[in-house]
Amino acid sequence: MNISFADVSLAKAGALALVVTEGNALSGAAADLDRKSGGALKRAVKAADFTGKAGSVLEIVALHGVAASRVYLIGVGKTGELSISALENAGGELVGRLQKAKEATAAVIADGAHSAKIDAGEAAARIAFGAKLRSYRFDKYKTKKKDDNGAVKSLAVMTKAFAAARKSYGTLGKIADGIFLTRDLVNEPANILSPVEFAKRARALTKLGVKVEVLGEAQMKKLGMGSLLGVGQGSVRESQLVIMRWNGAKATEKPVAFVGKGVCFDTGGISLKPPAGMEDMKGDMGGAACVTGLLHALAARKAKVNAVGVIGVVENMPDGNAQRPGDIVTSMSGQTIEVINTDAEGRLVLADALWYTQNRFKPKFMVDLATLTGAIMIALGKEYAGLFSNDDKLSTQLAEVGEAEGEKVWRMPMGPAFDKMIDSRFADMKNTGGRDGGSITAAQFLQRFVNNTPWAHLDIAGTAMASPQTATNQSWGSGWGVRLLNRLVTDYYEG
Ligand code: BES
Ligand code: MN
Ligand code: ZN
Repeated sequence: MNISFADVSLAKAGALALVVTEGNALSGAAADLDRKSGGALKRAVKAADFTGKAGSVLEIVALHGVAASRVYLIGVGKTGELSISALENAGGELVGRLQKAKEATAAVIADGAHSAKIDAGEAAARIAFGAKLRSYRFDKYKTKKKDDNGAVKSLAVMTKAFAAARKSYGTLGKIADGIFLTRDLVNEPANILSPVEFAKRARALTKLGVKVEVLGEAQMKKLGMGSLLGVGQGSVRESQLVIMRWNGAKATEKPVAFVGKGVCFDTGGISLKPPAGMEDMKGDMGGAACVTGLLHALAARKAKVNAVGVIGVVENMPDGNAQRPGDIVTSMSGQTIEVINTDAEGRLVLADALWYTQNRFKPKFMVDLATLTGAIMIALGKEYAGLFSNDDKLSTQLAEVGEAEGEKVWRMPMGPAFDKMIDSRFADMKNTGGRDGGSITAAQFLQRFVNNTPWAHLDIAGTAMASPQTATNQSWGSGWGVRLLNRLVTDYYEG
């Protein structure tokens, strides 16, 4: 979908939309349109009892006196309460309607919706951003799609502040590209997206100025990464550790670090998962996909930050050579782990990735993302990602940017009593702590590999994939986390 910005005009072909605030459905451009229609718009607004509440839409086909094939009024709620989410949702909702109506070309007048806090340029850019996010499709494996798929080809966003909107969207569009990369990686089936293929796609960030290194099994073995390697041991596909670096600040500035779980497919290993829903485990690399999409966004918008992304990319398979329950592996940190359940593999991958990251880069902080536990969905549903941290400041920052971007996190407790639950009879620790507090004991496990670095773990099992479809996301792989962490960087660590 091509998005452009222009000054306001009514004489456009295709569909025409107006974004309006509550109680102002017929002011501004809408008043002009009503006049053109000889009062028909006003009658429609009255008849439909349309007031402009957030999320409400009035659709009128072939409005009298107006060239546009369809006119949409899209409500974003009260001016005083205007949020970026409401604006993004308006853009998303519009694209959804256009797709359904098979309207390939449209214009949206954004001028009616701005406030003291969100100026007209920013508001228009947010509408465009929401539209862009909604336009995402993953239909590369559908052979019958070409003509009849209702794709929106172009959207003109009209506002007097078109120059400011264009500038603001210059950044948002790049964030959208990062989100699309994340969604693509999560949606891709595991027969295509092997660890080596994932590494290859991460390597493509080189063209944005990201430095990408890929370690194979031999190199990881030299580093002593027995924990990560044990997980990939049953797969015929080689495990990979990918290190991405974006240097947008002074060389002396310590980096911020993001670490991702990249299990390209999680069968559970010898502790095999039941078949129902196992296909979803192609998305078990959602953490790594988020880190990759984030690095894409940061590099594309030339963020003034030094950022590191480290992803452990493996496949968890049952096999004659697979690791067994009861096996004891030695991690890069030197700590030994008794593998009670080979399906608790994400933490084994992250153990070495986290240790490697803090050891090599001494970052300001590390945030890891992982589709780590089913238990987090029992606790928080699919609305919030679980946040576990050893650092109050980082936690507060994450909660705040999460609210702002609509990617919410909820802090969960940690502590010595939970930590004790993963002590092992035979090794330094075991990889499961039982059913009780399953997401927490998983986080306690990770904490044993962060070595006092300010750290936050985001359990995104409920938000990265198969999460509820929204106005701005209809994709199975949601791309969750790119916006959150991009804003964390923008608001607190850039400049
Ligand atoms: N990848 C799964 C967690 C998961 C489940 C993500 C459902 C998304 C949807 C993880 O590797 C796993 O299997 N966790 C186990 C841990 C248990 C064996 C301690 C779980 O949650 O059951
Ligand atoms: Mn598992
Ligand atoms: Zn897993």
